Amino acid sequence: MVKQRVFSGIQPTGNLHLGNYLGALRNWVETQDQFENYFCVVDLHAITAPHNPETLGTDSSTIAALYLASGLDLEHCTIFIQSHVSAHSELAWLLNCITPINWLEDMIQFKEKAIKQGQNVNTGLLDYPVLMAADILLYQADKVPVGEDQKQHLELTRDIAVRFNHQFGKGKTILKLPDPMIRQEGARVMSLTDGTKKMSKSDPSDLSRISLLDPPEAIKNKIKRCKTDAVRGMTFDDPERPECHNLLSLYGLLAGKSKADVAAECLDLGWGQFKPLLTEATIAHLQPIQAKYQEIMAEQGYLESVLKQGREKAEAIAGETLEAVKDALGFSRR
Ligand code: AMP
Ligand code: TRP
Repeated sequence: MVKQRVFSGIQPTGNLHLGNYLGALRNWVETQDQFENYFCVVDLHAITAPHNPETLGTDSSTIAALYLASGLDLEHCTIFIQSHVSAHSELAWLLNCITPINWLEDMIQFKEKAIKQGQNVNTGLLDYPVLMAADILLYQADKVPVGEDQKQHLELTRDIAVRFNHQFGKGKTILKLPDPMIRQEGARVMSLTDGTKKMSKSDPSDLSRISLLDPPEAIKNKIKRCKTDAVRGMTFDDPERPECHNLLSLYGLLAGKSKADVAAECLDLGWGQFKPLLTEATIAHLQPIQAKYQEIMAEQGYLESVLKQGREKAEAIAGETLEAVKDALGFSRR
């Protein structure tokens, strides 16, 4: 049986945090053998906010290495860097010309980021979801595993595909409609300093997130200083206690325990008793990922060769879709 195709990506803005890992990467690893997978480091997306040219390249390599360190297996996955495959930019342009501006102005993430960036909003930030649609549609992906925050962008991707097929497909499906794959657990990991805000790379406070490469001491310190409340006993689902819910969820996911088991184990614990449990589970979960990361980075030329192979495989598929789109739009052949 032919396997369905999966596509997803993460931006190389700094290190990956537990939100990226639990909301996205971990799920990619868990289901990888059921699908034909394409996982991309979306560096073209990273320049929609002010970025540092000195670190963009190495940040992209770091993310690719973390994909491998987290357990993605090249037998099932193609791993590559978005800017290495020029079809992404090219399809984004073509899709721009069929996407109404007001669809983009309605995107929640655009509105939030535009407020954060103040005066400094570039056209790329508005256009970000069209590039994301191009990423996905180029590979004719069936499924896109992401965190909850990306749901609206996936709906837009489908709308763009429907519109393209309708206007230019002459009854044929040129761009396949992808389905989101959003797992409930881990879909929204919240900040350590505010349980009502999602954990994010762009939060100015490093104490708000745990990064996959944080050393044990840093993890210990961040959990020690995270926001708590004055109630004794740990409970899920109390709207008055978002931090408690978030940290219990993290504990369950990282220790591999069910919600019911965590609820029973932690019911009578105070914060001072719970925090060391969470610290230990986090360090133990990240330790093998960090060790594998060091191994990958130490092997001269290995990562480059993975990314080169990835690029070649990705280019072949993306090129086919791009040609079909250009044909449908009526461009003259090269
Ligand atoms: P980004 O860091 O914005 O490139 O996000 C990469 C992936 O991580 C996407 O699938 C997001 O949905 C997911 N993600 C980012 N932040 C969180 C979070 N706080 N909780 C769960 N998933 C997240
Ligand atoms: N916008 C996504 C995010 O911030 C990253 C992304 C870019 C992506 N292109 C994608 C995710 C294609 C899935 C599929 O999380």
